[in-house]
Amino acid sequence: MRDVAVVGVGLTKFGERWGDSFREMCVEAGVKAIDDAGMDGDDIQEMFVGNMSGGRFVLQEHIGALIADYSGLATNHIPATRTEAACASGGLAFRQAVNCIASGAQDIVIAAGVEKMTDVSGGETTDALAGAADREWEGMYGVTFPSLYAMMARDYMNRYGMTREELAQVAVKNHYNGARNPIAQYQKEITIDTVLNSTLVADPLRLMDCSPVTDGAAAVILCSLERAKEFTDCPVQVLASTQASDTISLHDRRDISTLDATVAAANRAFDIAKIERKDVDLVEVHDCFTIAEICAIEDIGFCKKGEAGKLTAEGYTALDGKLPVNTSGGLKACGHPVGATGIKQVCEVVSQLRGEAGKRQVDGAEIGMTHNVGGTGATVVTSIFRRV
Ligand code: COA
Repeated sequence: MRDVAVVGVGLTKFGERWGDSFREMCVEAGVKAIDDAGMDGDDIQEMFVGNMSGGRFVLQEHIGALIADYSGLATNHIPATRTEAACASGGLAFRQAVNCIASGAQDIVIAAGVEKMTDVSGGETTDALAGAADREWEGMYGVTFPSLYAMMARDYMNRYGMTREELAQVAVKNHYNGARNPIAQYQKEITIDTVLNSTLVADPLRLMDCSPVTDGAAAVILCSLERAKEFTDCPVQVLASTQASDTISLHDRRDISTLDATVAAANRAFDIAKIERKDVDLVEVHDCFTIAEICAIEDIGFCKKGEAGKLTAEGYTALDGKLPVNTSGGLKACGHPVGATGIKQVCEVVSQLRGEAGKRQVDGAEIGMTHNVGGTGATVVTSIFRRV
């Protein structure tokens, strides 16, 4: 297999983008990534687009063809494929692009992700998102995503004694980081009291424990490592990109507050990358709810089960901590346009490794990681990156 590098990144502003269409946002991110790589659109040989639910949110399917067409690449007849794994759709697009180049099938590939969630009512959004769980065994009984993660949080707190304040600190930290990210949906700092006094959504999770409903797109350009210097002085090598699955229903798991797919994907990623957990300088994890970040830190293997709440409260995962987690603001503050999130995570890690993350720059960052989850952990994609 060949070595692969990221040579360009592009992001739209995340938030409620009522004035922009689904296709415009995706093309905007793609053009920014192509410009960033200093190449021409005609250099792109293949395209993968992560999207969870264009059919429900904007009544549009056939997303690969749509984006190829509106980015002007359909007349080159490049292969354009949509990938879907709920909130891990972007991570999947990235991994397909990596494999496409590693296999030697193509040299230069774009991986994008896009979602426009605010054109339908809140109820419709919640129902579309519930499609990421098992519709027959979970959704039909009224279970929503906040309630699934609430059950995980309740189980975790009972078992490991994590306090409500420790859990709230995840949101406080991610809002602090989001306040330093110009594309973030929420660029305002909050306190533990803001979290504890926010509206109860699904006990014990409150509004400020939840990622928001977001419009946005992200894109990255990948190429073979041997050609990367043609496009950038600062390529970022993909050391590993792995994927794992688990039961789609939460109730079928051996343990509802451990994501075994995260454990499996992360173990494989560290084996392939030939590095250790302590070598990682920063990580973007899938904090769709505050409890998800706590589980991710532990399931990736950065600490033992039951320890992440305390570490978060002590500042271990803060921007200036030993292991900065979610420097972009995470899904919580940066926003969660579901199909785009996995690609946005890659954009953030690449910006950090290039030293281009501005007010949220982690000093001397050389190795970064991303962790993207579909549903409650039925799909997980993890990737590890190194500055060349
Ligand atoms: N974090 C911070 N602020 C939020 C927020 C969030 N998650 N969601 C909404 N807000 C803010 C809004 O900006 C708005 O502020 P304003 O009054 O100053 O304009 C206010 O809270 C009310 O917003 P509204 O859109 O009416 O909230 P809502 O009650 O309709 O939705 C949630 C709140 C939590 C239910 C919704 O964000 C949600 O469903 N999140 C989870 C999404 C999800 O499940 N994703 C998939 C994960 S796997």
